[in-house]
Amino acid sequence: MTVAEALSRAARRLDEAGVSSAPHDAEALLRHVLGWDRARVVVEGGAPLDPESETSFFALVDERAARRPLQHLTGRTWFWRQELLVSPDVLVPRPETEVLVEAALDALRDVERPLVADVGTGSGCIALAIASERPDAEVHATDLSPAALGVARDNARRLQLDHRVRFHEGDLLAPLVASFGRFALVASNPPYVGAEEAPALPPEVRDHEPPLALFPPGDRLSVYRRLAPQAASALRPGGVLVVEVGAGMAAEVAAVAQAAGLRLARTIPDLAGIPRTVVALRPVE
Ligand SMILES: C[S@@+](CC[C@H](N)C(=O)[O-])C[C@H]1O[C@@H](n2cnc3c(N)ncnc32)[C@H](O)[C@@H]1O
Repeated sequence: MTVAEALSRAARRLDEAGVSSAPHDAEALLRHVLGWDRARVVVEGGAPLDPESETSFFALVDERAARRPLQHLTGRTWFWRQELLVSPDVLVPRPETEVLVEAALDALRDVERPLVADVGTGSGCIALAIASERPDAEVHATDLSPAALGVARDNARRLQLDHRVRFHEGDLLAPLVASFGRFALVASNPPYVGAEEAPALPPEVRDHEPPLALFPPGDRLSVYRRLAPQAASALRPGGVLVVEVGAGMAAEVAAVAQAAGLRLARTIPDLAGIPRTVVALRPVE
């Protein structure tokens, strides 16, 4: 079997299993097995696939057809120009979260040596993106999950940002209480999927991503309700809270932030036009 034949057979199999990005995922898995770049797959499509690679490739295709996330099979994903390790212990970073990173960097534009908190860091994607763009920032990241923090620390080491980002196990901003009043930025992509939405989630998400990362303990707003007043105390005057929200939640989250004494600065849509990021600031008295 040639490389091109293996690819088209795998894409058919994934398509039949309901995988929406079947050709893309087939190619990503083959490149993972062979260690090839895209150009080589195109140029050497007529080359025979060696039997060992064929066995490994179709084993991964079977797993993907059973709707395991592609990134769990390759162990990696890209976020904000950085390749990150991912595992079933962390949420796979999503492209829409890059909108939050843009808003965070924008908020820090005129602040020198900013103190930054990333709450619910997961893979570390937000904290590491900010640290990579702002070498003068001191970045702290928290998570309740020790396993997620293990992945985040590995990512920080691989990106040589471990001396610039500190990871803390604990609830929301509690581990950082000693620095309250000094943060220029609190960023968070907290759990916001309602339990009632679970049946409609794709199997990749519902069956494979960590429930702690998806579902808040109460209603969809429950984490924002606890985070907003903590952020209001953690921020310095003029400091900014930037949070990702689920579809249809922006107005409610803005109201939660305002009830905590923060002033709504703006909401920002993602590439699909859904208001996805809420930016609020602690007024300067
Ligand atoms: C939606 S995921 C976001 C992960 C990552 N920041 C991202 O954007 O891909 C939410 C993260 O918050 C963590 N988390 C949930 N409740 C928390 C809490 N009360 N305090 C700290 N972290 C929490 C979860 O373990 C998970 O890693």
